[in-house]
Amino acid sequence: VRNQQILMAARPVGLPQPSDFSLVETETPPVNDGEVLLETLYLSVDPYMRGRMSEAKSYAAPMQVGDVMIGGTVARVLESKSPKFTPGDAVEAYTGWQRYAVTPAKGLRKLHRSLPLSTALGVCGMPGLTAYFGLLDVCQPKAGETLVVSGAAGAVGSCVGQIGKILGCRVVGVAGTDDKVAWLTNDLGFDAAFNYRRHPEPFKTLKEHCPGGIDCYFDNVGGPLTDAVFGLINANARIAICGQISQYNNTKPELGPRLLSTVLVRTATVRGFLVFQYLDRAAEGYEKLGAWVKEGKIKYQETIVDGLENAPQAFIGLLQGVNTGKMLVRVSAE
Ligand SMILES: NC(=O)c1ccc[n+]([C@@H]2O[C@H](COP(=O)([O-])OP(=O)(O)OC[C@H]3O[C@@H](n4cnc5c(N)ncnc54)[C@H](OP(=O)(O)O)[C@@H]3O)[C@@H](O)[C@H]2O)c1
Repeated sequence: VRNQQILMAARPVGLPQPSDFSLVETETPPVNDGEVLLETLYLSVDPYMRGRMSEAKSYAAPMQVGDVMIGGTVARVLESKSPKFTPGDAVEAYTGWQRYAVTPAKGLRKLHRSLPLSTALGVCGMPGLTAYFGLLDVCQPKAGETLVVSGAAGAVGSCVGQIGKILGCRVVGVAGTDDKVAWLTNDLGFDAAFNYRRHPEPFKTLKEHCPGGIDCYFDNVGGPLTDAVFGLINANARIAICGQISQYNNTKPELGPRLLSTVLVRTATVRGFLVFQYLDRAAEGYEKLGAWVKEGKIKYQETIVDGLENAPQAFIGLLQGVNTGKMLVRVSAE
């Protein structure tokens, strides 16, 4: 099959540019035993990809110039040499930014169509699991506690805040546009939210929204907002470091206040986590998230960009906050 792939053409410096990507045409290899040929329906663009494009040491090896851009996909099985799949099945795969892929059947998640297929990359996929396990296992919120979520209108953050409401917390969200703030408070049930771009010194605003202090903080962005949160944490607060997107395009580390004394005197816990640590409990997460979505307890939005060739622009837009909810690229019609 004639394929189209998007490669990393150069390592980005700062915010990625369209010239850091190139589109090439190739042939898919033959399908061997135990493999399937997939046609990509949706591909996911995610903040972690910025890390993989850089050479810096991380939890996974960096991509090399000339590699196909990595990433999660929802795809249709076109040909199968595995007893587990038949043509027409829909799967979640990790085949990256390309129109077709030949991949081992092992490790694919078969999707049942009780929910829209695209949710397998968002609210009922990796971002949903990140929200579920990060909040429950790291923040361990209790009813009545105050939970602050940064990056609150994104794929992970919007899910975190709604799970916080299901658990009976007071939830305060921080996001980057007034429309996003309105979505959080009017549609998702957040108790309060504010636009950090309008509050460059967020301490005072946070204090107004969190009169009883902050018990849990789910951090997606880092930077000055996170510094402000530390000033308001209660005794035994739990802080989940999920992401630091405000830092991902920095060419040198940003310097901030030294906050470890606050962690000490409030006997707080600050813990980084990776969703992959919870792979053995993924089924539990998928089941819970799927049930909450079907019951209408978790609502979600997707920002969908059409066309494989527009994936670089979708990714750059994600890093600039163009998306509300999960950012996806539709490669082929369902
Ligand atoms: N630990 C894990 O295993 C794990 C797994 C998945 C994701 N993550 C992390 O979780 C975070 C959210 O990921 P996601 O997939 O849900 O992405 P997302 O929140 O849907 O999209 C990224 C959002 O980040 C915000 N943003 C961009 N630059 C910012 C800045 N300088 N300051 C504050 N906000 C900024 C933008 O929204 P605004 O308009 O609000 O600025 C943008 O929409 C990321 O940091 C990601 O790396 C971690």
